[in-house]
Amino acid sequence: VNIIKLCLVGFGNASKEFSRILIEKGEWLKANLDYDIRVTGICTNSKGSLINHQGIDLKTALREISDNGKFSQESPDLVNLNTVNTIRASKADVMVELSNLSIKDGQPAITHIETAFDCNMHVITANKGPIAWDYNRLLSISKQNNLKFFHETTVMDGAPVFNLVKYTLPGCKILGFKGILNTTTNFILEKMENGHDYDESIKEAQSRGFAEADPSLDIDGWDAAAKTAALSNVLMDAKISPFDVERTGISNIKLQDVLEARNQNKKIKLVSEAYISNGRVITKVYPCYFNIGDVFSTVDMTSSLLSISTDLMGEISIIEKNPEIQQTAYGIYSDLLNLLRDM
Ligand SMILES: NC(=O)c1ccc[n+]([C@@H]2O[C@H](COP(=O)([O-])OP(=O)(O)OC[C@H]3O[C@@H](n4cnc5c(N)ncnc54)[C@H](OP(=O)(O)O)[C@@H]3O)[C@@H](O)[C@H]2O)c1
Repeated sequence: VNIIKLCLVGFGNASKEFSRILIEKGEWLKANLDYDIRVTGICTNSKGSLINHQGIDLKTALREISDNGKFSQESPDLVNLNTVNTIRASKADVMVELSNLSIKDGQPAITHIETAFDCNMHVITANKGPIAWDYNRLLSISKQNNLKFFHETTVMDGAPVFNLVKYTLPGCKILGFKGILNTTTNFILEKMENGHDYDESIKEAQSRGFAEADPSLDIDGWDAAAKTAALSNVLMDAKISPFDVERTGISNIKLQDVLEARNQNKKIKLVSEAYISNGRVITKVYPCYFNIGDVFSTVDMTSSLLSISTDLMGEISIIEKNPEIQQTAYGIYSDLLNLLRDM
């Protein structure tokens, strides 16, 4: 059996659900793929960090966080190290970046990834900051060091977006894409169509746990811009940051606009778009009207859609229906399985 050691940076919603999948699938991975997956490091911002080179007991770690909101002070695995030093000390084979997104510069996740590469670790990130801000440089460091760099979960959770292109559309050039990629705005616009006002809709999105406490990241289109930058950097070699995406959010859309659109058999959706013009990749986030019946109009509540234009395969689309946290964790798990296969 091959032992593979992971270091989890962040132990929030995504990381905890991924840990549950590791617990559930551990025996299957050993029996079927001959891999014994062990987590040797866990870092958090405020709940403590753990190291155990034999493998942290994930069930205990999950229970401690759920019971006390932090790791036990009595735990022999508890270390008093910052995140960078915990990554180094974990001696892991793979670092999994699951810390919070910093929209303005992608840090400190970029530093976490550089640290992992410096320690000869492969990297899986669900945090889109590094892909939106620094993809090309990080990819080239990974290649120079013969290390893998996976990021499927950064756009549309576990739905295969990057892998769709990488593994199933060989030889296709990506000419552009158009998508509905931000859950919060899609949810709010849908609620407004049913007559609820803006503030009420934001409050419900927050209480259901997918909008940020500060919803401006979603409302002003920053999250969609980060996803647009990530997709165009990876699929179209755009070499841009979220600041380069022309961005209009939904804050100027009034209940009246949404209801008028409905009367005209249209829906308003926040769209992420990229296309090539004069050899340059142009990227935009903006509210757009769609006729009822258009596939974009059917993407409701927290669902998302990405439609990719290619030179040899025309247009191809993927829809993710109302995902839960398991779909996020699956994206990370699928990256791990692909990484093991490629190693
Ligand atoms: N949730 C989703 O459905 C989803 C979907 C796709 C992608 N993602 C991405 O996945 C990442 C994690 O999301 P989440 O929902 O799990 O977030 P979350 O619940 O807020 O958890 C974030 C975790 O990161 C830790 N953290 C923050 N800064 C850190 C640092 N400097 N060093 C070490 N740990 C640090 C936090 O520590 P504390 O516990 O001490 O606060 C927390 O444990 C984000 O980048 C998000 O954008 C999430």
